[in-house]
Formats: sequence, C-alpha cells, structure tokens
Amino acid sequence: MAKERLDSDMHAVLTASDVRKTFPAASQGGEVEILHSVSVSVRAGEMVSIVGPSGSGKSTLLYCLAGLERPSSGLVTIDGVDIGALSPRRLAVLRRRRVGFIFQSYNLIPSLTAAQNVALPARLAGRHPARQEITAALRSVELEALADSRPGSMSGGQQQRVAIARTLLVKPAIVFADEPTGALDAASGRRVLDLLRSVSDAGSAVLMVTHDLESAARSDRGIVLRDGTVHQELAEPTPEQLLDAVAAAA
Ligand SMILES: Nc1ncnc2c1ncn2[C@@H]1O[C@H](COP(=O)(O)OP(=O)(O)OP(=O)(O)O)[C@@H](O)[C@H]1O
Ligand SMILES: [Mg+2]
Repeated sequence: MAKERLDSDMHAVLTASDVRKTFPAASQGGEVEILHSVSVSVRAGEMVSIVGPSGSGKSTLLYCLAGLERPSSGLVTIDGVDIGALSPRRLAVLRRRRVGFIFQSYNLIPSLTAAQNVALPARLAGRHPARQEITAALRSVELEALADSRPGSMSGGQQQRVAIARTLLVKPAIVFADEPTGALDAASGRRVLDLLRSVSDAGSAVLMVTHDLESAARSDRGIVLRDGTVHQELAEPTPEQLLDAVAAAA
C-alpha cells in the first residue's frame, strides 16, 4: 500500500497543494475567497473528473491548475515544474509543449482548416508535423475526410474531435477539459468521451470538469467540489455515487 502511494506520487503529472483563489468582491471593495486550500494530484494515464454544484469553483480550479489563472497562494506543479515560479513567457512555453486544452467551445481557429488546426499547437511548439502525422491524428478521430474543411462547416461534435486530434499530435503530459461534452448531443458526447479515454489510455493525464455524471463515471476518479473545497473523492465512481455526492455537496 505504502509503496503504491509512493509510486503514484512519483508518477503525478499534476499536483496542487493548498491552492487558494480570491477575487475582488463585487461590492464593498474587499476580497472573496473562492477556492479554500484545495489539494489534488493526477497521475500519468489517469482520467479524473471534477464535479460539483454550479458555483462550487470547478472552472476556477481547472484554470488555476492549468496555469490560465494564478492561484492567490499554494503550489501547482505540472511535470514536476512549479508553474507559479515561471515567468508568463516560460509558462506559455510549458503550456504549449506539455498541456492540451479541450473546452466547451471556441476550440478551433475558424479561418484554418481542420488539418491546419490540428498542426497549430505542434507548430507553435516549434515542430513541423508531417502531413501523414496530421492525417493519422484526424483518422484516429474518424475525420480524415474533413481535413480541408473549416470549423464553420462542421458539427459541434466534429469540431470537438478535431480538438482531440490536435491533442493527440502534441501528446501532452496532461489534458484539461472544461465541459467537453456540454454542447453536444448524447451520442456525440459519448464519442468525445471515448476519445478522451483513449488519450488517457495512451499515457496522458486527463482532468475534466463536467456536469454530466455519466461522463464523469467514465473516469478513474471523481473529485467532488463543494463551496471551493474538496468535499469527496471517489475511485471508479458510478453515476449513482456521483449523483449522491453532488447532491450532498449542494
Ligand atoms: N473572475 C471572477 N471574479 C469574481 N468572481 C468570480 C470570478 N470567476 C468566478 N467567480 C466566482 O467564483 C465562484 C465559482 O465560479 P466557477 O466558475 O469556478 O464555478 P463552477 O463550479 O465552474 O460553476 P458552473 O458549474 O456554473 O460552471 C462563483 O461564485 C463565481 O461567481
Ligand atoms: Mg464552470
């Protein structure tokens, strides 16, 4: 048991210790603390979901962990690097090389084709992926035929799959997903979930915020947030267990 814990810590791709986030309060000019001392870790190849009532701090936490927001205090490491100690420029480089993002929308650049969108993060990271590498990534999400199409002519599910193909090309240490199936119908959502699952099976960590408890139940672990704290962690949760935990956190 102790050894297992040691191994899991060694393989943590993401660690967060005592993360707090305050925002300026809307009225009286003070501050309001939204995240209170949150600690989590995610291992390579592990898929973890963050669930919880609306306003519990899920998106804020995800953004702090992904280096898109700076925590007010606490330590966040990605790949063993303390991201709070990085300059904005070095943080941007780490994000480009080691981190993937799948958000509910606005994932793709409208003026670029699917193939160009897939190649973009790799190019920004200084690589020049071969056409066949791009084609293979699009094939793995079954969208090879749309390589030269632009996002405007694709369905939401297709756009989300292009975003996943883009992630496959970079092979990031960790993929952050905020409501990746939120805008999709059930069948498209399942397909996106299958693909995210395959991203984690291929060795990347996946950390996903979702309201969809069926999706969350596909994870190895569910983290239930309540009012900016970790209320509960569930290993290999069922949708029913997640529902009970979220209801208890409301
Ligand atoms: N930039 C900000 N300034 C001030 N308050 C903020 C800011 N961003 C978020 N909040 C507040 O922090 C709390 C948590 O917001 P957050 O968006 O993280 O919740 P969430 O769990 O993602 O909710 P939802 O399920 O509705 O997406 C809310 O009360 C919100 O109003
Ligand atoms: Mg949110």
